Amino acid sequence: MSTAKKDVKRVTTHIIAGMKREGEKISMITAYDYSMARIIDAAGIDIILVGDSASNVMAGHETTLPITLDQMIYHAQSVIRAVKRALVVVDLPFGSYQGNSTKALNSAIRIMKESGAHAVKVEGGAEVQDSIKRILSAGVPVMGHLGLTPQSIYKFGTYTVRAKEEQEANKLKSDAQLLNDIGCFSVVLEKIPAHLGKAVSESIDIPTIGIGAGKHTDGQVLVMHDLLGITKDFNPRFLRRYAELYDVIKGCVEQYIKDVKDRDFPNEKESY
Ligand code: KIV
Repeated sequence: MSTAKKDVKRVTTHIIAGMKREGEKISMITAYDYSMARIIDAAGIDIILVGDSASNVMAGHETTLPITLDQMIYHAQSVIRAVKRALVVVDLPFGSYQGNSTKALNSAIRIMKESGAHAVKVEGGAEVQDSIKRILSAGVPVMGHLGLTPQSIYKFGTYTVRAKEEQEANKLKSDAQLLNDIGCFSVVLEKIPAHLGKAVSESIDIPTIGIGAGKHTDGQVLVMHDLLGITKDFNPRFLRRYAELYDVIKGCVEQYIKDVKDRDFPNEKESY
């Protein structure tokens, strides 16, 4: 268990807000299933994100676009069953909130009601503000997401660093202020220059959670499969791998196959 906030029984959005005020960094990681969420929660993570990156790392899609609301709810239900302490935030998937605030509200309510999650995350700024306001009006906490927003990958064309030019940086700054002002409880900043991550974090009251946004954001998030080295071929500069589980798991399975073929498994002790 990390030393930070170790006495907290349940992490809430209020605790997350207080962490920024007190200068304590916020830790966030993705999870999509019961077993991994249980381990991550026991380690003392502050926020678990049931990310739509499930579309990539769980389902094998190239983008986050195909995952459905029903599939996100399934993942969120599995995570919620495991979590005792962390705040659980669930991504609203592509097509479930853009351009229609009533649909956005219904999608958020389905996630909260059917999974028991604590908050939702929405990608975008001014263009989705009506949807965000509507969700907030129902008392559902919203985390924003600016910078590289993977649901818009076909607009961007690539997964390279965003907001390097002044115009896009200014739009990001004004979107962050907007999300702050309309009542989001935090905002993810993905793949932007570190100086911009710092400027935004210093200019708004709500916590910023960075992924490839430098060290000055109020917290950090990584996709669990990347951090653990399960996604072997994904090596962006911002990623720190804490294990090489692809190799570990492959080695274990190779050994198991050998033991079966060699008639070594099961032995007497492993039999009834
Ligand atoms: O879906 C996801 O995993 C995310 C993180 C990269 C922030 O949105």
